[in-house]
Amino acid sequence: MPTLEADDAAIVQAACELRAGRLVAFPTETVYGLGADATNGRAVALIFEAKGRPRFNPLIVHVIDLAAAERIACFTPKVRRLAAAFWPGPLTLVLPRREGTGLSDLVTAGLATVAVRVPAHPVARALLRAAGVPVAAPSANLSGHVSPTTAGHVAADLGSTPAIILDGGPTTHGLESTVLDATGDRLVVLRPGATTREAIEGGLGEAVDSGPDDVGEPEGELPSSPGQLASHYAPRARLRLHANAPEAGEVLLAFGPEPAGVEGRCVNLSPAGDLVEAAANLFAALRRLDATGAETIAVMPIPGHGLGEAINDRLRRAAAPR
Ligand code: TXA
Ligand code: MG
Repeated sequence: MPTLEADDAAIVQAACELRAGRLVAFPTETVYGLGADATNGRAVALIFEAKGRPRFNPLIVHVIDLAAAERIACFTPKVRRLAAAFWPGPLTLVLPRREGTGLSDLVTAGLATVAVRVPAHPVARALLRAAGVPVAAPSANLSGHVSPTTAGHVAADLGSTPAIILDGGPTTHGLESTVLDATGDRLVVLRPGATTREAIEGGLGEAVDSGPDDVGEPEGELPSSPGQLASHYAPRARLRLHANAPEAGEVLLAFGPEPAGVEGRCVNLSPAGDLVEAAANLFAALRRLDATGAETIAVMPIPGHGLGEAINDRLRRAAAPR
């Protein structure tokens, strides 16, 4: 069994697993998270595979303090004051993502924003300090199941998928962090959670909007219907799915062996046909092909099993008429 009581030795061991690209479940003050090194695209892809998520939703990046958050996201003075008042604690801030920080594109599902949180739980903090990398972590449950508040819940859902489950006892809030969109002038609650809107308004001295309240899914994920989330990454180019080869003027998003004659106008998600590798490369590959200026990206068929379901979901959305 991968469950270990979260003492110093177990935390150091868990930090090594994270740095080696493996998954670690750990307690936060809200719910248990399933963590991966946020700078390692392959490790982040393993999170989606472990949860069986049919879609690539952006994940929360956990960091040790405000200084570490400022290395991956852009803060205004107002947001900095807010962070200083509520961190560490169950408040997640969605902010403009800094370029060139090494953060995997899959963590943010290709968005130009990143959700950052500084957890208060001593085990989460010790783990972040020991790992020395930002840690992407959704709740440590299977997709569609309720969030785990004990190590036993995590084990029941994920078994031995995480290299280690750090047992830090039951979590205190039992409710996820509040997700606040802080990219605009007015702050908007995207997901209500353990930090109340009233508390945020009190700390800030100004009103905070509630997001649309009809978007809740079982896991409190973002809205899924097209158009509800305007910021969902979509390439500028059109996509032509189930293509075997690019036509004249097209570039190719390949998977597995490439057809002949595509050198210089092809990005391969995984020459070996590995879905974890393909998921890790998906958003960066779309960006690179988009940057060629081609009008159409031809996309080779990708199997629908495992992570293929989420990859195909994202490609279908990107291909939908806009
Ligand atoms: O309490 C929590 O927040 C837990 C613990 C483990 O920290 N984590 C958690 O993560 O609930 P997750 O992945 O289950 O939920 C992340 C939420 C989702 O609603 C997601 O859509 C939103 O944050 N989110 C993440 N990045 C975003 C972004 N760039 N823009 C808008 N929403 C974002
Ligand atoms: Mg969740």
